[in-house]
Amino acid sequence: MIFETHAHYDDEAFDEDRESLLNSLYEAGIEYVVNVGASIDTTKKTLELTEQFPFVYGAVGVHPSETAELDEEKFKWLKEAALLKKVVAIGEIGLDYYWDTPERQIQKEWFNRQMELALEVKLPAIIHSRDAAADTYDMIKAAGLKETGGVIHCFSYGKEMAKNYLDMGFYLGIGGVVTFKNAKKLKEVVEYAPIEQLILETDCPYLAPEPNRGKRNSSLNLIYVAKEIAALKSIPYEEVISITEQNAKTMYGIK
Ligand code: NI
Repeated sequence: MIFETHAHYDDEAFDEDRESLLNSLYEAGIEYVVNVGASIDTTKKTLELTEQFPFVYGAVGVHPSETAELDEEKFKWLKEAALLKKVVAIGEIGLDYYWDTPERQIQKEWFNRQMELALEVKLPAIIHSRDAAADTYDMIKAAGLKETGGVIHCFSYGKEMAKNYLDMGFYLGIGGVVTFKNAKKLKEVVEYAPIEQLILETDCPYLAPEPNRGKRNSSLNLIYVAKEIAALKSIPYEEVISITEQNAKTMYGIK
């Protein structure tokens, strides 16, 4: 069955039908969901979802664009949250030079602190990296994050950078963008990377794949992502589903 490795069901876009939508996933072939925190508030909401739904696991962390809110007290809370049973990753954390706020020094400081946390609690990291390829890779390498591993979520760089992460044992998160006609670079990366290091993600409510591009995204759309990966790699759809599920279980430590 499908493993949804990156969703934001805490988002207000799901306020009207969150419960019925999540309860419909299993019948649609989706077995697990990891809901990903992006701030202290959304991490709290993520923890609530993991309590409410048996198949929902959580990642705790603060997105680079939200790091200005962090202080020692909040970081301490995050550390405690990381120890909860259904928390399977630290994320999403990283660098975002597209929005480029707060200033890079603040983003870097909290990226480092959260990588240290991942190493301390021995959980994989979910990395968000936008327009910050070189700095992200340098910092991950310097932090020794290879030890816990993780995923480069919504991978958006080229083959060379993909190779760097694949060599370190990281997974690449593949979502709706791979179905876009103009996503030539990402299609090349998917052709190139071993299927054993790819995982399926939506980043919902954002980034819905074709044929639903522009609409609210949900895990129900992962079939289109898996179909595109199957076509690009010339392997059966079922194989994409089962191998990426196994990859996600291995990465998140879910048996
Ligand atoms: Ni996300």
